[in-house]
Amino acid sequence: MKHYYIKTFGCQMNVYDSHRIAAILESLGYTAASTLADADLVIFNTCHIREKAAEKVFSDLGRLNLVREERQAAGKDTVIGVVGCVVQAEDEEIARRAPFIDFATGPLTYHRLPEILQKVSRRRGIPLIDTEFPPESKFDFLPANKSMGGCSYLAIQEGCDNFCTYCIVPYTRGIETSRPIADVVAEAKTLVEGGSVEINLLGQNVNSYHGVDAAGKERNLAWLLRCLAEIKGLERIRYTTSYPADIDDELIACHHDLPQLMPYLHLPVQSGSDKILKAMNRRHTSGQYLEIIGKLKAARPDLQFSSDFIVGFPGETDQDFEATLNLIRQVGFAQAFSFKYSRRAGTPAALMPNQIEEKIKKQRLETLQELLFSYQLKFNKESVGKIMPVLFDIKGRHKGELIGRSPYMQNVHSSLAAEYLNRIVNIKITDANVNSLAGQKEGN
Ligand code: SAH
Ligand code: SF4
Ligand code: F3S
Repeated sequence: MKHYYIKTFGCQMNVYDSHRIAAILESLGYTAASTLADADLVIFNTCHIREKAAEKVFSDLGRLNLVREERQAAGKDTVIGVVGCVVQAEDEEIARRAPFIDFATGPLTYHRLPEILQKVSRRRGIPLIDTEFPPESKFDFLPANKSMGGCSYLAIQEGCDNFCTYCIVPYTRGIETSRPIADVVAEAKTLVEGGSVEINLLGQNVNSYHGVDAAGKERNLAWLLRCLAEIKGLERIRYTTSYPADIDDELIACHHDLPQLMPYLHLPVQSGSDKILKAMNRRHTSGQYLEIIGKLKAARPDLQFSSDFIVGFPGETDQDFEATLNLIRQVGFAQAFSFKYSRRAGTPAALMPNQIEEKIKKQRLETLQELLFSYQLKFNKESVGKIMPVLFDIKGRHKGELIGRSPYMQNVHSSLAAEYLNRIVNIKITDANVNSLAGQKEGN
């Protein structure tokens, strides 16, 4: 019996891809190894979004090679594969810096793993690298998806045509493609039959979804959401990540009409300065962003927002940064992710003049995060005393503890019997800090 181990870096799409890769390997007779050192096949599913993410892949690969050598000394063979965005962006770097790997394949070609593994078994010693943007859709060649538990991810769209000037994703995931409505609905039904009560629809630019219906007509995300809302047993729907300028009135209406749509939306603004937004090639101003937030709130008053922010984009002045802080004060995000701008070779912003010093980026990030955390803490504190339906999908570190997600994506810790795993339970919130809530089952 052969064992595999997959290590996932990066975004939710990579988590989804790793889940599907695991199913391919299981269809080939592999079983999951409990540790990396026990695996006959190790796959790194990689991320290239910032320099740190990519560098981590290379340093972890170096460590993995040592594990392979130890296994070799014990007479065991280890096949090493790299998949994901680093492969697409840095195929030559991989061959140069990690020549000991057996294969590498981009995020759009992992459905070819059965053939790749066969070829690898015949030619050890020279890495086999496949970075083609394939004409076929990988989704047509994968084994049926399996539920991940109470909450599953479902990729409906991949790639991006927005070309924000800082971002590598359009070069790694390719141009935007959408899966047909029927395929998404069928996969959602399988996930619900497998025990999922929540589905999080994924895409790099999920609200530009335009999959075809049975008659071949292109339909938008709003249409897809209404189809999914018909599935019995699917109690919660989320979608991520959205591009602000592509939020249309039909999608806004869904937030009013569909109780399954959770009242939490990740809507990255990146900056509050219109000058910087323009240089980033985002198709929204801060005013338009606030207008979209206003419309969404009018449709669903309890809707909460999260965002991504980049500080230290080339040319960002103190004044530009202040505009970002001001926008945060106006929206008061329930959660947020913030990053120092990282230069990505091949993107237009990497060549822009007025790159910002590391010291200033660091200071701005600290100031930004302090403000963001204060709003996050405020929102969490306001939850104390409320009763919230929480979907528990993870076992806590302490015995008898489960961790789940509130409708607003807050982590909730509770002392609950294991039978509540993967179920939605009404929880009275008793305590809150910046990262999580604690509470007890209502009636206890
Ligand atoms: N498609 C999504 C996000 C993809 S990447 C969107 O458009 O919002 C996730 C986040 O990483 C981005 O929102 C951005 O904030 C950040 N990011 C992307 N490229 C970056 C870079 N070069 N440096 C720092 N942060 C970056
Ligand atoms: Fe990157 Fe912009 Fe596309 Fe998001 S919308 S994936 S940030 S290019
Ligand atoms: Fe990273 Fe690729 Fe996702 S670069 S953030 S793994 S789309």
